[in-house]
Amino acid sequence: MRTIKALLSVLVMALTLSGCKTQQQEPQTEMPAADTEVISETKDGDETVDYLVVVNKLNPLPENWESIIKTVTVTNQLGREVEVEQTAYEAYLKLKEDLEKEGIYIDLDSVRRSVAEQQRIMDDFTKEYGADYAQKYVAVPGYSEHHTGLALDVYLIVDGKTVIENSEMEAHPEIWEVVHKKMPEYGFILRYMPGKEHITGYGYEPWHLRYVGVEAAKDITEKGVTLEGYLGMVKETDPKIDYGNSSIYTKEEMDSVITQIKCKFAEWKGCELKRIRYAGDECTAKENVEWLNTFGDTKYVKAIEFLMDFHTAKDIQSTMEPDYDYNYYQWWLGQTEDGSWDIVSWGY
Ligand code: DAL
Ligand code: ZN
Repeated sequence: MRTIKALLSVLVMALTLSGCKTQQQEPQTEMPAADTEVISETKDGDETVDYLVVVNKLNPLPENWESIIKTVTVTNQLGREVEVEQTAYEAYLKLKEDLEKEGIYIDLDSVRRSVAEQQRIMDDFTKEYGADYAQKYVAVPGYSEHHTGLALDVYLIVDGKTVIENSEMEAHPEIWEVVHKKMPEYGFILRYMPGKEHITGYGYEPWHLRYVGVEAAKDITEKGVTLEGYLGMVKETDPKIDYGNSSIYTKEEMDSVITQIKCKFAEWKGCELKRIRYAGDECTAKENVEWLNTFGDTKYVKAIEFLMDFHTAKDIQSTMEPDYDYNYYQWWLGQTEDGSWDIVSWGY
């Protein structure tokens, strides 16, 4: 039974890889070109920055960005140089000043990054936290909106102490709540919101502020949508999550795996995620773990399966049916001895 399933999964996985999953995953050495024109021109011929530019898992940095952008380089309180797009920096200073009136102190950690810098971050995160964590929080070089200079990672200063590690920053939701509330007034949006990973492709990052301009920031925040949804690039659907009844996995463990699946799903251009459902505790059966271990050299000690309902895009460039409902599509993940999960197989 498992063997047939394995063969089918490999086949479907191959088909899907050549189809819906359109994003090239190999690290880029140069800033790649986007297929859409995102720089607008003023009447007198000067090109201006498009503050609504979308750089995500499917859209790399526009090729002419370098020649348009004006940046400032500042030294942060940790003595590190940070490069920021000029208008975004002016807006940031105003936000910072306003927050200080509330007793909240932020500083710039990482803003504009080169492709090489993004690669270094990807390598460091993969080494320190594992590949699954890195995929949730770090963009493939060339596809990071940090290349634009409009994405600002800030860190906190709490009681005079630097709070800069992701896990430390996540421990201060009450501070982020105030920061996020004030951001739109100064032109910033929270780019990677919780629950929107299937659209943005990344886990929740309370520290990642994206400058889009005041009008758009207010509108986007009020609507509670992603930048992709706001611009009509995707249908902004919030999928139903069904955790079922498990005596093995907690909701938190499942959420971590579901986020991983959703981040992968965001690479499937134009597909709309409708539902994710835990397949049941029988998915951890020994034969399933053994089956996952046949896929490669990685040793898995546990298995988990989720079932997904989604709809494909009308114009999908894929072996998948266009404009079609796929139901009970299977996602199999294996857990390694160190506790991290890998997506091993997806398909029917
Ligand atoms: N942390 C975001 C996703 C980036 O690396 O661009
Ligand atoms: Zn960031």
